[in-house]
Amino acid sequence: MDVAIAPVAELASIAADEIQKLLNRKPDAVIGLATGSSPLPIYDELARRHKEDGLSFAKAQGFQLDEYVGIDVNHPERYRNVIEKEIASRVDWPASQVHGPDGNAKDLSLACAQYDAAIKAAGGVDLQILGIGSDGHIAFNEPGTSFASRTHVGVLTEQTRVDNARFFDDDISKVPTLCLTQGLGTIMEARELVLIATGENKAEAIRQLVEGAVSARWPATIIQHHPNALILVDEAAASKLELADYYREKWAKRDLLG
Ligand code: GLP
Repeated sequence: MDVAIAPVAELASIAADEIQKLLNRKPDAVIGLATGSSPLPIYDELARRHKEDGLSFAKAQGFQLDEYVGIDVNHPERYRNVIEKEIASRVDWPASQVHGPDGNAKDLSLACAQYDAAIKAAGGVDLQILGIGSDGHIAFNEPGTSFASRTHVGVLTEQTRVDNARFFDDDISKVPTLCLTQGLGTIMEARELVLIATGENKAEAIRQLVEGAVSARWPATIIQHHPNALILVDEAAASKLELADYYREKWAKRDLLG
């Protein structure tokens, strides 16, 4: 696991570099797309590189991490709409190549199985962008989720609904209670993980993710088992890391590490 501690603009640039390297080598790459506020600077940087340097997503496939259940198809917070607005429509990414689980499906379990199968059929995710919840969730895999889980129907914790109420008029009663989410097992199959977290509210989750014991209480700790994970944090999110200075030194020497 690599940890980069830097101002947010630099974090966005590091993540965009990884994505650009991937697309240069494999224009039809499969990219895993996260919602939430944390990845937005990455999407801004990718949109800038598309406009100014011609970075192209024309052949790429995109797969969302998760979706709310029962949210109106036109709701601005429906994750499919968020991804369209924040990244797909700002670059040359055909809508037909950006996929999300169907939170309005009649048979939600079937929709989950089909989504997992679609990721497999596309060849698996090459690079997965991730945020992290303050309770340690990734995608919507809340504490207690099986590390082997596949795309499934999940129940949001009270903490997640409180955190996400800001997107629903600050009214927790408007935040859906159910979601469809890629499972931890699904996410762990991505060839590269790039997780971004900013702000003090994420400091404990980041401490657990990087230095804590692997446990179902903090689902993101499973990332310790991933062979190619990059954790991007600002000073505030890194503020509880015991070995922050060591991670800084290691990051500064990354070119020597191969
Ligand atoms: C949401 C999403 C996650 C995201 C997390 C953090 O609930 N389902 O994919 O990583 O919460 O969101 P934010 O980046 O806005 O703090």
